[in-house]
Amino acid sequence: MLRKTKDCLAILVVGGAGYIGSHMVKLLRRSGFGTVVLDDLSGGHRDAVRDVPLVVGSIADAGLLAELFARHRFAAVMHFASFIQVGESMSDPGKYYANNLAATLTLLGAMRDAGVMRFIFSSSAAVFGHPDRLPIREDLPKRPINPYGRSKWMVEQVLEDYDRAYGLKAICLRYFNAAGADPDGELGERHHPETHLIPLLLQAASGRREAVSVFGTDYDTPDGTCIRDYVHVADLCDAHLLGLRRLLDGGESARFNLGNGQGFSVKEVIDTVRHVTGRRTPVRYEARRPGDPPRLVADTTLAHGVLGWMPQRAKLETIVADAWAWERKYPWGRAASDGF
Ligand code: UFG
Repeated sequence: MLRKTKDCLAILVVGGAGYIGSHMVKLLRRSGFGTVVLDDLSGGHRDAVRDVPLVVGSIADAGLLAELFARHRFAAVMHFASFIQVGESMSDPGKYYANNLAATLTLLGAMRDAGVMRFIFSSSAAVFGHPDRLPIREDLPKRPINPYGRSKWMVEQVLEDYDRAYGLKAICLRYFNAAGADPDGELGERHHPETHLIPLLLQAASGRREAVSVFGTDYDTPDGTCIRDYVHVADLCDAHLLGLRRLLDGGESARFNLGNGQGFSVKEVIDTVRHVTGRRTPVRYEARRPGDPPRLVADTTLAHGVLGWMPQRAKLETIVADAWAWERKYPWGRAASDGF
């Protein structure tokens, strides 16, 4: 049964049918928030939205947004509706600026018109580009090296101006490498095409992918492969909830880096996948992928201290095990024609 959003604090989750958004909707429901999802299903999945209203549409549609804000009294908006492929952003930057920047401005405009002045924004470690220092603190220079990262940094800057001028309060959460799946096994990662290391390795482990390419073995790292800070999707959602509560309590705008503060090389991830799954995961060693920084590791002191965020599923084995449980459910009880 649908809960009427007027009975409790209602949150609009845009991109709530996608990977991180769908996990967030589940946590919001569990935490007693009324939730409405707006998603154009360009990357999300209808069946990832359970027992909350799903409005199929775009954040670029000002008319639809006005209608939605008139119908519900939202306490806040959470924004997960971005395009996320770095490579695609290089070949088709217009697509990224149109959605990640321009459509976000349309959403912010609709929020202002409706007097909804709290915003949680999915940003990215990509705002830092090639950082000079590790671990990466929030105040390191922002030098994004691709349109994806630039679109995220532009929105962060817009949000600073909107706070100053209009009093719109925003929490920007810069994800490092989001991974893992719902510990209950109900939700998980389903990108098309999949480009992320862990799900690709798990597809190889389950036999639905022949091999995975390792992009570069000549980096200046101990084993020559890139180092990343993998963070569980459930822990990311916990940080969003803490950020939301901060804003609902009248807190100020802020930006946080979200990772576990520990880096793993591509080879270490491969070893972990082999260990957790007990399966073969064939790999091919290839040239570097353009634009990959050698190391990205978060300094999460601020998120711990200010938000009180304590990741519960920080171990790489746990992240991989939860993602593996999800991969083993493939094709998630549905037919391919269902758009998984
Ligand atoms: N990798 C491979 N083979 C693959 C896929 C990835 O070797 O088939 C390597 C990459 O080169 C990289 C590491 O595995 O070194 C992780 O790659 P992912 O594609 O899983 O993730 P990225 O670190 O490239 O990207 C993530 C987010 C982006 C975000 C970026 C911030 O997915 O949205 O972090 O830098 F922009």
